Amino acid sequence: MTDPDYRLLTSQMLAVLSDESDNLANASMFVALLYAALEDVNWLGIYVLRGNELVLGPFQGKPACVRIPLGQGVCGRAAATLETQRVPDVHAFPGHIVCDEASRSELVVPLLFDRELVGVLDIDSPSLNRFSAVDQAGIESLVAAYCDLHAGKTQFI
Ligand code: SME
Repeated sequence: MTDPDYRLLTSQMLAVLSDESDNLANASMFVALLYAALEDVNWLGIYVLRGNELVLGPFQGKPACVRIPLGQGVCGRAAATLETQRVPDVHAFPGHIVCDEASRSELVVPLLFDRELVGVLDIDSPSLNRFSAVDQAGIESLVAAYCDLHAGKTQFI
């Protein structure tokens, strides 16, 4: 498997999104661009923080659970701790929420907007241990660039 060039991907993402001001369109395009760029991924999407829950937003992949309470599952843990969760084997993660049976490893990155949690980016793979530390760093930096596009806006999506 070839790792994407995350710097190049970030500049391509900024080139596509920076001329558009609609947050929903940009979120949809962001997940589609990333899904197309990553190999061996079966689900990729955004959950948006609404009160004490994460609610399904733009995604690519099979239909998924719509609401995840904070603290539950891998997504809820990332949201509650504000820390990326890189899970090599989802079956070994207590409380993992199964959406697509095929998923075996997962990377969830919190989305911060002016240092406030606004949601998470969730990426699932059908392979064990799919996400390396390089993937994590690259995707965190891509997410930071994506969130910076929202500077000065009052709403995330
Ligand atoms: N597995 C996630 C739930 C979301 S789906 O994978 C799309 C979790 O445990 O939070």
